[in-house]
Amino acid sequence: MRLKEKLWGVVPDEMLCKIPEHFQLIGDVAVLSLPVELHEYSTAIAEAVLSGAKNIRMVLNKTSKLEGDMRLASFEVLAGSGNSVTLHREFGFIFRLDVTRVFFNSRLGYERMRVARQVQSGERVLVPFAGVGPFVVPMAARGATVLAVEKNRDACMWLAENALLNRVDGRTEIINADVFQILQILKMDFDRAVVPTPYGMDSILEAVSSRVKKGGMVHFYTFKKRQQIEGLVQSYSDMGFEVEAFRRCGNVAPCVSRWAFDLRKKRP
Ligand SMILES: C[S@@+](CC[C@H](N)C(=O)[O-])C[C@H]1O[C@@H](n2cnc3c(N)ncnc32)[C@H](O)[C@@H]1O
Repeated sequence: MRLKEKLWGVVPDEMLCKIPEHFQLIGDVAVLSLPVELHEYSTAIAEAVLSGAKNIRMVLNKTSKLEGDMRLASFEVLAGSGNSVTLHREFGFIFRLDVTRVFFNSRLGYERMRVARQVQSGERVLVPFAGVGPFVVPMAARGATVLAVEKNRDACMWLAENALLNRVDGRTEIINADVFQILQILKMDFDRAVVPTPYGMDSILEAVSSRVKKGGMVHFYTFKKRQQIEGLVQSYSDMGFEVEAFRRCGNVAPCVSRWAFDLRKKRP
C-alpha cells in the first residue's frame, strides 16, 4: 500500500498531496523531508513509514537544507529506536556512517558503480570530497590505489572504517584536510580523479587537472541547468579535456540537476 493511502483519514485530504512520494533510505534509516505544513502529522507519517517496511529501524526528518562546506543538514527523530549510525549496502559493499554527521546520498549508487567499473587494477586515483568512501571503496576493490581527501573529521573516521570493513585499507590513503590546500602541495600525478564537487566549488577542476596525467580521466560532478551544458562542454574543451560523455544524475532544485562529466585529459 502506498504511504498516502495508509494515511487516509489521518492526514486531511487537502494535505495528502504534500506527503513526499519518495524518501531516502540509508541502511535502516529512512530520511524524510517533510514540508512545515505537515509538522503536526509528522509522527503519524513516520509511524506509517516504519510499519510499512521491516528493513526500516528509524525515521528521521530533515529540518534544514544541506548547509556549509560539509553539506550537513539538521534532523529530528520522528520514530523508531537506536541511534543514527547505520550500515548501508551498495552493490556488494558496506558503508557504516552516522546519517546526521556526514553527507551521504544513497541515490547515487548506480553512478558510483558506473565510474568504478571503468577503473583498471594498478591505477592511481584521486578522490577529493571523498565523504565516507562510496567512490573510494569500489575503486580500491578494483585494484586501484586511492588517495581520498575529506575535510569532515567524522567522514574520515567512517571512511577509514569502511576501507577496513571492505578489506581495501591497504590500497586507501586518507587525508583529513581542505583539498584546495592539499592540491597546492601535492606532488604526485594520478591516472584518474573522481570529483563529487559540492555546490559552488567547481574551481577545483583546474587544480585537479594539474595533477592528472595526460590521457588520464576526470569524472567531474557539477550542478547546472540543461541550457548551461553546451557552454560547459566548450569550456572543458578549452581547459584541455575531451568530453567523452556526460549524463544527468538527479535533480537538486527546480531545473537544476547534478551532471556527471567524463573528461579525458588531452595528450599534446
Ligand atoms: C557532495 S559531498 C560528497 C561526499 C561523497 N563523495 C559521496 O558521494 O557521498 C562533499 C564532501 O566534500 C567535503 N568537503 C567540502 N569541502 C571540502 C574541502 N574544501 N576539502 C575537502 N573536503 C571537502 C564535505 O565534507 C563532504 O563530505
